[in-house]
Amino acid sequence: MNQNIPRNKVILSGVRPTGPQHLGNLVGALRNWLKLQEANLCHFTIVDWHALSSEYQNPQVIRGFVFEVAADWLSIGLDPERSVLFVQSQVKEHAELHLLLSMYVPLPWLERVPTYKEMQQDLADKDINTYGFLGYPVLQTADIIIYKAEVVPVGEDQVPHVELAREIARRFNRLIRPVFPEPQAYLTEVPRLAGTDGRKMSKSFGNCIYLKDPPEVIRAKIEPMTTDTRRVRRSDPGEPDDCPVFTLHKAFVEKEKREELAAGCRTAGIGCLDCKKVVIDRIIAELAPFREKRSRLEKNPQLVWDILAEGARRARDRAQRTLEEVRNSLGL
Ligand code: TRP
Ligand code: SF4
Repeated sequence: MNQNIPRNKVILSGVRPTGPQHLGNLVGALRNWLKLQEANLCHFTIVDWHALSSEYQNPQVIRGFVFEVAADWLSIGLDPERSVLFVQSQVKEHAELHLLLSMYVPLPWLERVPTYKEMQQDLADKDINTYGFLGYPVLQTADIIIYKAEVVPVGEDQVPHVELAREIARRFNRLIRPVFPEPQAYLTEVPRLAGTDGRKMSKSFGNCIYLKDPPEVIRAKIEPMTTDTRRVRRSDPGEPDDCPVFTLHKAFVEKEKREELAAGCRTAGIGCLDCKKVVIDRIIAELAPFREKRSRLEKNPQLVWDILAEGARRARDRAQRTLEEVRNSLGL
């Protein structure tokens, strides 16, 4: 937290294509990526092989989600001229490095990754007790170090994976030859956004506001949201810090206006609908340019696929160079 913003670094981050991007993704990752791409060599990848680790019984859904994520990224301003935007499975080199690295990863390292047992519990309906799932963080390591990435912008939940990537890189460097920089997680303070049901905004809860939601849908999702339960009547004062809707204000309403609303809440000077109206309007306004760009891309999906193909070409160039080095150092 509060780390200096990286400059002149090689950066990589990835997203599993499980659906379109939502406000939580915007606030937690994309806004940050937009800043990072200005002064770094960024690689952003849609990791469809990783999605397969939980969707292997239903793989046909993945391709559509890849498109959704890519269209969202381009619409929000990730710039394919600056950043390398690509689909993991289009750069087969990740698979080769994954295999080679797997030889260097002691099993207990994987079994003790905290996300391993947690995810198995979270996805209890999906039986992910597979070889591929155990190796998930090794594939993630390959994603990162194949570009010799130094910085990995991620949320807190991914820190153990980046730690593991460091350990794997270190072990390879020590046992064979120093090929890989040790990647570092770059954490940003992420205000947790509440979803429409008041819980954390997350695809698995079905409570998301999507970047591509039209204005009337955004309005219809936020207006009925539960607020601080103290505000039973309009005349009851409330506490914004206990209000799920106010998590949206923290991300979308400028400080001055937000403080005015908070004061109004605490004194019952404003009603919840007035307060919601402000944040709804801000969200809709922030997404207006996005929406326009996205509808253009939806009309011309080939443009999106072409951009991804070009990104994969650039990614492959760099990945191949690293792999050459790895194969040589192994005498293969
Ligand atoms: N595991 C990450 C997630 O679930 C996705 C991911 C795959 C990733 N490869 C990566 C993130 C490389 C950062 C770097 O969010
Ligand atoms: Fe939440 Fe605003 Fe209502 Fe206060 S006035 S409870 S912050 S919606």
